Amino acid sequence: MPKVILITGGAGFIGSHVIRLFVNKYPDYRIINLDALTYAGNLENLRDIEKAPNYVFEKADILDTTALNRIFETHQPDGVIHLAAESHVDRSILSPLDFVYTNVIGTVNLLNTAREFWKNDFSGKRFYHVSTDEVYGALGESGFFTETTRYDPHSPYSASKAASDHFVRAYHDTYGLPVVLSNCSNNYGPNHFPEKLIPLFINNIITGKPLPVYGDGLYTRDWLFVKDHAAAIDTVFHNGKTGETYNIGGFNEWKNIDLVKLLCRLMDEKLGRPAGTGEKLITYVKDRPGHDRRYAIDASKINQELGWKPSVTFEEGLSLTIDWYMDNKEWLEHVVSGSYLEYYKQQYGG
Ligand code: NAD
Ligand code: DAU
Repeated sequence: MPKVILITGGAGFIGSHVIRLFVNKYPDYRIINLDALTYAGNLENLRDIEKAPNYVFEKADILDTTALNRIFETHQPDGVIHLAAESHVDRSILSPLDFVYTNVIGTVNLLNTAREFWKNDFSGKRFYHVSTDEVYGALGESGFFTETTRYDPHSPYSASKAASDHFVRAYHDTYGLPVVLSNCSNNYGPNHFPEKLIPLFINNIITGKPLPVYGDGLYTRDWLFVKDHAAAIDTVFHNGKTGETYNIGGFNEWKNIDLVKLLCRLMDEKLGRPAGTGEKLITYVKDRPGHDRRYAIDASKINQELGWKPSVTFEEGLSLTIDWYMDNKEWLEHVVSGSYLEYYKQQYGG
């Protein structure tokens, strides 16, 4: 197995959990974290492991070919786990080209570098592309996304991730690059940037701001605790079959409004506020354009072939997540200053 692993996007939400898992679990590996530190990248996420002897940080943009060549030359990675991306659907509606640059062109740039650096001798090499269930589009009331569901993306974000998935498979089929892919459902947990539903609403409940529920609130997502996604990435990286795709999900569907009410109830209890305080903040707002009605992953392939399954229930994971945000107010204060405020004003007004 590869022992020098280049992980892109390691300063972000999921990437930081993957880095921590690999650095702690595999002391004989060398883990290189390549991240451009966009608004979503935050080295505070990795304070606890930043001095580990098997960890290195490289600030670089995946669009920068010279930087990628230097990093491959310096560290000689034999594995890549690619998470760097623009990841927020609402931002993709405001600035679609940013998503094309990083998610599509950046991914192809990374594929090219790996292919050229590995000089078409791919023994012992692995390129793992981390993707999303949003590439499959939207489900009706029933059914699940499987690995063979036809791609049908609706947002600039999901279209850019779909394009990147196609390029990864094309590099496997055309050049024989040893790739593996996974498509995961909605993650939640510590270090989640508060532009996404759960951390945004936790922050707004703490600060007493409105909870902007899009449309009728009956949109459904399948939620997975981020540490379970990191464990699944570890499993796929080490045991997944080359050329294969694995769907990852929590078997845990929630309509947005039900999830928001559960969050309000748990937070009223934890904050010692009267029951019903949080729910009073719920405000229905204009819908997201192209909003996918329902996502639900069939994760039976990774379960049956690789033995992975989620380790925590949603109630446990959500409770751990709320506790983390309440215990890490400084982290929250740092990330919601500066450019976050401009984005918030543009997206929600006021
Ligand atoms: P995130 O936005 O929290 O982090 C993205 C990271 O990538 C940041 O650290 C950022 O600085 C870095 N980055 C962005 N552009 C870059 C560039 N051009 N060069 C180098 N680094 C760059 O994202 P996340 O939620 O942690 O998602 C990570 C990956 O997992 C993404 O590929 C996303 O599509 C995928 N995914 C996310 C979810 C989810 O629910 N968050 C679910 C399934 C799949
Ligand atoms: O499904 C996987 C995807 O999940 C990942 O690929 C994306 O990177 C990740 O951001 C996430 O996308 P979503 O669009 O599903 O996540 P978000 O947290 O933005 O929204 C979740 C649901 O909540 C969605 O139906 C929109 C709704 N929503 C979101 C926000 C930010 C609201 O009702 N109000 C809001 O303010």
